[in-house]
Amino acid sequence: MTEPLQRPRIAVVLAAGKGTRMRSALPKVLHEAAGRPLLAWVVDAARAAGCARILIVVGHGAEQVRETIQGDDIAWVLQAEQRGTGHALAQAEAHVTGAANLLVLSGDVPLVTPATLDRLATEAEAGWGAMAVAELDDPGSLGRVITRDDGGFDRIVEARDATPAELAVRRINAGLYALPAPEIFAELARLTTHNAQGELYLTDAVTNAARDGHPIHLVGLAAPDEALGVNNRAELSRVHRLLIERHLDALMDSGVTLLEPARTIVEPGVRVGPDTILHPGVSLLGRTRVGAGCVLHQGAWLRDSRIADGVTIEPYSVLDGAEVDDGCKVGPFARLRPGTRLKHGAKVGNFVEVKQSVLGEKTKVGHLAYIGDATVESGANVGAGVITCNYDGVRKNRTEIGRGAFLGSDTLLVAPVRVGDGAMTAAGSVITKNVPDGALAVGRARQENLAGRAGGLRGRPSQADDKTDDAGAAPTPETSREES
Ligand code: UD1
Ligand code: CA
Repeated sequence: MTEPLQRPRIAVVLAAGKGTRMRSALPKVLHEAAGRPLLAWVVDAARAAGCARILIVVGHGAEQVRETIQGDDIAWVLQAEQRGTGHALAQAEAHVTGAANLLVLSGDVPLVTPATLDRLATEAEAGWGAMAVAELDDPGSLGRVITRDDGGFDRIVEARDATPAELAVRRINAGLYALPAPEIFAELARLTTHNAQGELYLTDAVTNAARDGHPIHLVGLAAPDEALGVNNRAELSRVHRLLIERHLDALMDSGVTLLEPARTIVEPGVRVGPDTILHPGVSLLGRTRVGAGCVLHQGAWLRDSRIADGVTIEPYSVLDGAEVDDGCKVGPFARLRPGTRLKHGAKVGNFVEVKQSVLGEKTKVGHLAYIGDATVESGANVGAGVITCNYDGVRKNRTEIGRGAFLGSDTLLVAPVRVGDGAMTAAGSVITKNVPDGALAVGRARQENLAGRAGGLRGRPSQADDKTDDAGAAPTPETSREES
């Protein structure tokens, strides 16, 4: 070869198409699979395969695509009018100076692995060009790769231009290529639109290059799934599931138990420690971290949360941006919102909402509570129905609950307020003033018992008579409603 042994690898991602069959206002390549836009998966694979620069050809929804996908290594190429994949690649010519090994990828083929891209690039470095092929049982609308008798590459035929015999071929074009620049640009310049779609096909340029005597090496995909493109919502859901499954398989290899993988979602950005058990219906999303030896029961939904070791999450708990230290227990039916931190051994029970609050070691918030903008120190016990009244209509105010404090059921804490170390509040209290350390705060109407009066109120024909009788009469639920 007269070429230098290794040309720089540059990725060109074709992402300008409209994706009409998605029937969407969103550009196709921005639809998400496993929590990330399709295009982001492709860009990641290109980076991991050693592409120093990534050119992304955009057109339909270009502005939105540019805003969503970021990186210093990305250069944007505009294809104002989408005239086919060959036309799309041709737009990148001005951005490629000197010889390069172009990894040409489709923005809608997100399962591609860095290993495949590396194989393509290596084959092209050793010869001229390379393309990925797969044998599919149901090749559908994909381009068919026709080989010569000796097995070498002959041509690519688009399904819509294929004869019945060509359509019967199950070897398909995955839409992933390594092609030499500037040579491929000369082939693109000669393309015509003499085909069923009236487009300039990249596939024709590859076919023409082979006719010109340039070898095109076929790289068979070990896992044909890698070739899956997304052209409609059904394909999107398939690709989503496969991306998730890849990650679930890796987790199981690393020692995580998944009782029903098919009913579990763990997005690929999530890490889970060994000996953790995930029950069916668990969703772990975003940048969530789960430690070792945890049990996450059915319906646990965690996003961008950090769970240490030995934590139990009971069914149907929602954790969003929460941090949970080791040995804690959460749920069932708990909601931990952003800024929540549970320290070692804390317990949060059913129908408890926590936001922007730290719960100290071994604190307990067992039932039906709202803890917002609060600091609860270690060993405190927050009774059922306790509410931090953190918002006065203008600003959020903080509540502090001291070490070992005990809040009686239905305590309302009107912030800003502090309940001191070892202090108590009586059930049903409205706490508007700080409670000193060790004090018992009682903030409610004193109860009066009127001897013998209960029977007198029952079984009377009309309650109207009572009104004049005595303002201090013990109200039945009905009369209390009338009076309020
Ligand atoms: C293409 C291939 C087909 C292959 C399949 C693999 C051609 C002619 N056909 O078909 O052989 O089996 O991919 O998935 O190449 N795009 C642009 N500008 C355009 C047209 C398309 O950027 O003018 C982009 C699209 O956004 C998409 C990619 O190129 O990301 C592929 O285009 P698409 O229209 O989906 O091609 P297929 O019909 O899938
Ligand atoms: Ca496609």
